[in-house]
Amino acid sequence: MCECVNDLQMDLVTPRNASLSGFYKRSFAYYTIKERLPKILTQSIDILVRNKDEITKEYGNEAKEELKHVIGEFSKLKYEVQTNKVMRNITSNAKDVDVYNNFFAKQANVTYFTGVWLHAECYMYRRIREIFELTEYLKSYDPFRIQKQEAFNTSQTAILQLSKYLMSTLNENDNGHDVKGEFIKLLKMNLWGNQCDLSFSGGVVEDCSDWFQILDSLQPNIVSDHSEQIWLAVSNTNATSRIIDIILDNSGYELFTDLCLADFLISHKFARTIRIYVKNMPWFVSDVTKNDFEWTLQELANSNETDVNKLGKRWLHYVKQKVWVIVENDFFTLPHDYSLMAQEAPELYKQLGEAKLVIFKGDLNYRKLLGEKNWDPTIPCKVALQGFAPSKIAALRTVKCQLICGLEPGVAEALSEKDPNWQETGKYGVIQFCDD
Ligand code: F6P
Ligand code: MG
Repeated sequence: MCECVNDLQMDLVTPRNASLSGFYKRSFAYYTIKERLPKILTQSIDILVRNKDEITKEYGNEAKEELKHVIGEFSKLKYEVQTNKVMRNITSNAKDVDVYNNFFAKQANVTYFTGVWLHAECYMYRRIREIFELTEYLKSYDPFRIQKQEAFNTSQTAILQLSKYLMSTLNENDNGHDVKGEFIKLLKMNLWGNQCDLSFSGGVVEDCSDWFQILDSLQPNIVSDHSEQIWLAVSNTNATSRIIDIILDNSGYELFTDLCLADFLISHKFARTIRIYVKNMPWFVSDVTKNDFEWTLQELANSNETDVNKLGKRWLHYVKQKVWVIVENDFFTLPHDYSLMAQEAPELYKQLGEAKLVIFKGDLNYRKLLGEKNWDPTIPCKVALQGFAPSKIAALRTVKCQLICGLEPGVAEALSEKDPNWQETGKYGVIQFCDD
């Protein structure tokens, strides 16, 4: 069924309190489904075509024919998105498939532009995974691996600078450390690391600039800053839990900033264990999978730069000693927002509840926290979370779509006046905290 795009969409902005959807033509959701998602699929096709010899070398000659089929499936998927087809059942036999199919069965005949944007976008990435699941030789192929590795390689200057900074903060021979100041600086580096996102740049690898030098000048761009509250939660010596959870977002430089923060928390004994949640399949182009995580640590440990090399080796040791525990959970690649976690994934909800603090990284996690709703920007974070309160929560996100909470009155209006597209640029950020 083709629900032709322009006939159905309403020439409206997203109404207040409505779910973001491609249905509203004057929204970033519409623009994403119309332009950005097809662009990401085209980019993937190009990469597959350009790298077919390498792929055949790695996966064997039999994979060559399959690759042609895979490329064809990507083109079909792109056509389905562009012509607003119904989101059909996933047909592989992976263990999350029933959950996906039941979820969409409840919204009979929902299409890319008429459904909730979050659902449509997650579904597209799940369909990409399905393409490979249904092959014989390319089952484990990650279509975004090349871009992710390239992004890491182009961030070496920024990685080196941050390595030096982290090492200097951990130098016990130096007296008079301002631990709180160092923590907050790392938190902010971590926030801006979220600008390095390949789904936002349309799969294009960009040089992640050196925020280290310009960190202070970016302060006005943090439109809601609860760093102090996060510091109090982290440094609270009365907390019974010694676990901090980090729900990761992107590979490359952002992951490096996450790991620096995780090391700082361990080295200063703010936590005994950091549980690090990765995606269980290639997701939103640059999101971290277990393979990406392991590859990154190995690359760091092989670096010729002393500080980078030391950190890489230390972090491999943390993983071996289970000081850092890598967690994969299907829930993070479902289309569900987090208000559904307690009901749909009660064990995960309980697990997050064991942590002293759960840090959510990035825009997609933020959308799931806020239930993909166009809230009044001044609504308290607690209300926007709609009952999701497994533990104390921190959310670090550069703003890449039209949804936000917890702003002071007048802030959103002033920003809109200055820059009407301020929520679509990734130039602004939030560091927010919500108590349990
Ligand atoms: O909102 C814009 C967007 O590119 C989405 O398409 C996607 O949800 C998100 O940003 C990815 O950002 P992040 O990597 O920060 O989750
Ligand atoms: Mg991401």
